[in-house]
Amino acid sequence: MTARLCVIEGDGIGREVVPVAVRLLRILLPDLEVVSAEGGWGCFQRRGVSIPAETLAKARECGAVLFGAVASPARKVPGYRSAIVTLRNELDTYANLRPVRGLPLPGSRADVDLLIVRENTEGLYVGEEEGDENRAVAQRVITRSASRRVARRAYELARSAGRRRVTIAHKANILPLTCGLFRDTVRQVARDYPEIETDEMLVDALAYRLVRDPESFAVILTTNLFGDILSDITAAWCGGLGMAPSVNLGDSVVLAEPVHGAAPDIAGKGIANPLATILSAALLLRFAWHEPALAASLEQAVSQALRTGSRTPDLAGPGEQSVSTEEMADLVSQALDGMRKE
Ligand code: NAI
Ligand code: MG
Repeated sequence: MTARLCVIEGDGIGREVVPVAVRLLRILLPDLEVVSAEGGWGCFQRRGVSIPAETLAKARECGAVLFGAVASPARKVPGYRSAIVTLRNELDTYANLRPVRGLPLPGSRADVDLLIVRENTEGLYVGEEEGDENRAVAQRVITRSASRRVARRAYELARSAGRRRVTIAHKANILPLTCGLFRDTVRQVARDYPEIETDEMLVDALAYRLVRDPESFAVILTTNLFGDILSDITAAWCGGLGMAPSVNLGDSVVLAEPVHGAAPDIAGKGIANPLATILSAALLLRFAWHEPALAASLEQAVSQALRTGSRTPDLAGPGEQSVSTEEMADLVSQALDGMRKE
């Protein structure tokens, strides 16, 4: 069957990093059928909607989506809903995976190999806020059903990847009902996976340990906002936001996206680091098209490109020479070529 991909470049550097990642995917999957779709803040300004209905239809039809990044206003704009949150909800991608592995880069930690699994449909992301200039309230929704299905997915992934421990990150001392429900539901699911050890930590203590001792974690399973914050911390261990990939898994759609945003400070300059998006494309190969060998070769090509010593400006040290988005992608493409000739 021909692999099909719905591509949503979005805003800012999304428009620069996604095309180069698609170019590399086409090397690995020459028959890949690519469908472009609109989404984001620019789309909202043009059309009054951040994710048009036809974008959702294309995403569902393809079953695989590569999403770049979108800008979002930091104030409330009537009628606007975050494009990426809309996609995750509408496509029901209920588990967000953020793998973090050491890479040949200064500052990265060679022995880190952990996976953050984040509940992706509820928590504080339900977007129910109300209030005025003196008092504002946000809803945090945790349900047994959503906690159960993300836990099931996390334990299945741990089992298939041979990961031996799952750590639940929560704050049940302060939020016993919401965090407690999440933790207890995960513990119930864990009973079906006796070969995997389950432990738990308060999220603040865990954040500290992620900085001090990231090698000690295998899988961290947590609620939506905690997962968002913890995964930006761990991005430091793989070389920074320009290097951190993610994938959102549902039962029928797989949506890959770099962890970073639209980076307005560097957009339009052709210098954004494309590797986070390229590594996200590798996650599509693994999870959407079930091509683990191709995924591993793309990941290896990224490491080889870095071993040449070439760096986009976000990775370069002070005074060090740097390469452009396209040049970095070319290096990955050359590494792939070299591997295919071996
Ligand atoms: P950001 O991730 O866009 O940028 C943070 C810093 O990291 C900036 O200095 C940026 O230049 C740098 N950076 C990020 N990705 C990079 C890359 N690939 N190569 C080189 N440098 C990179 O986060 P920020 O500044 O908080 O948000 C900017 C906009 O992006 C906002 O409108 C925000 O709402 C949106 N955003 C969107 C996300 C998404 O689409 N999933 C996620 C995070 C933020
Ligand atoms: Mg984030």
